[in-house]
Amino acid sequence: MSSDTITVKRAANGLRGTITVPGDKSISHRVAILGALSCGSMQVRNYLCSEDCMNTLRAMQQLGAKVTPGDSPQNFTLTGTAMQPTAPTRDIDCGNSGTGMRLMAGVMAALPFNSCMFGDPSLSSRPMRRIIDPLGQMGAHITACGRKPGCAPLRIEGTSLTPIHYELPMASAQVKSAVLLAGMLTEGTTSVHQPAITRDHTERLFNHFGVPCRVSEYGLDIEVDGPSVPQAKDIIVPGDISSAAFWLVAATVVPNSEITLRHVGLNPTRDAIITVLRRMGADITIANEQHEGEPYGDITVRTANRLMGTVIRKHEIPNLIDEIPVLAVAAAFAEGTTIIRNAAELRVKESDRISTTVNNLRAMGGIVEEFEDGMAITGGSPLHGAVMDSYHDHRIAMGFLMAGLHADGETTLQNCANINTSYPGFEEHLHTLTGA
Ligand code: S3P
Repeated sequence: MSSDTITVKRAANGLRGTITVPGDKSISHRVAILGALSCGSMQVRNYLCSEDCMNTLRAMQQLGAKVTPGDSPQNFTLTGTAMQPTAPTRDIDCGNSGTGMRLMAGVMAALPFNSCMFGDPSLSSRPMRRIIDPLGQMGAHITACGRKPGCAPLRIEGTSLTPIHYELPMASAQVKSAVLLAGMLTEGTTSVHQPAITRDHTERLFNHFGVPCRVSEYGLDIEVDGPSVPQAKDIIVPGDISSAAFWLVAATVVPNSEITLRHVGLNPTRDAIITVLRRMGADITIANEQHEGEPYGDITVRTANRLMGTVIRKHEIPNLIDEIPVLAVAAAFAEGTTIIRNAAELRVKESDRISTTVNNLRAMGGIVEEFEDGMAITGGSPLHGAVMDSYHDHRIAMGFLMAGLHADGETTLQNCANINTSYPGFEEHLHTLTGA
């Protein structure tokens, strides 16, 4: 469990050592959902036992999926319902997770019973119209009954749906996946077109579980045939590159660092953080690359000789959307100006990550200009420690703790128990790598 308040100091001896970051959050949610609908039993290894993914797994148990414990909490046997789930007897708690709620909405909408999904205050203020609209076009009955219009709780009257072709108005893997999961449960072919490549874990897992799915040459068009029952098949969840990103940045900026992160997922729709940090001058090498549905490998990072600002390209934004707060921290330590635009989606994450990143950078003495769709960070001058809030956002908490490892004085992050939503064991890793 992460503490509510965490204080760090400059990592005077650098970051050193080897760790294995926890399992990928996006993949874990999808494994729980597809495994719960599957026919048969599968061994799941390295599932992310964070609050977000445990909420999704508990929701799937409510639908009748069976979880048999293995040798550790991350390893278990998941037995599916062969697409014959039972109606949940309680409302489904999605906690802090937009991914859990939006993906499960695609499934619940197409099942023959009613359900209700709710979340914490942060999730209850995030936009749900983006999935209600396309699922509504398929014939779904979803009512957003939150205090804020278009927000959770979601009441869903399950019914059989009709396939559609949907042109996504924004580059969102959650919206894409909600429609594709509904399509998997619907008679006929459901297709989506996305304006830019987004993480493709749903498509890869369809393939893994034998759900007929086709992806066009450039990855922008995807179709799924339904109704299709996923066939249970053992799976190992790779480490989460979004969790690794914190250490990639810290070891890059803190002098005298050399760390290795083992078994990190290297899916090409998620690895732009590596491309961009290398472009800035980071010393990152990858070894022992393997491929089991998803590529993964061991990443070694040494302190950069010289770090330069960069312009993040439009197509890179969806590929590093969750890494932008910590990338902004790297930019504050780089010479010159880093420009991040076309990233308005950041405003509807666990916090408004444009304003929370800008606020916290400024609190540490960073020079940053805020735009509606991004920010420009002029780096190179030293940062100083500050007392900051996480704004109920795990990635803001961890991102600014990384800044504190290379800042003068003490850096304190308040309200950061939310780190448990994605990175259980974060504080242990902080101690291992900094020796503090
Ligand atoms: C996710 C997609 C992204 C990302 C989120 C996880 C997923 O959200 O920010 O943390 O697992 O599909 P959007 O689809 O809203 O961009």
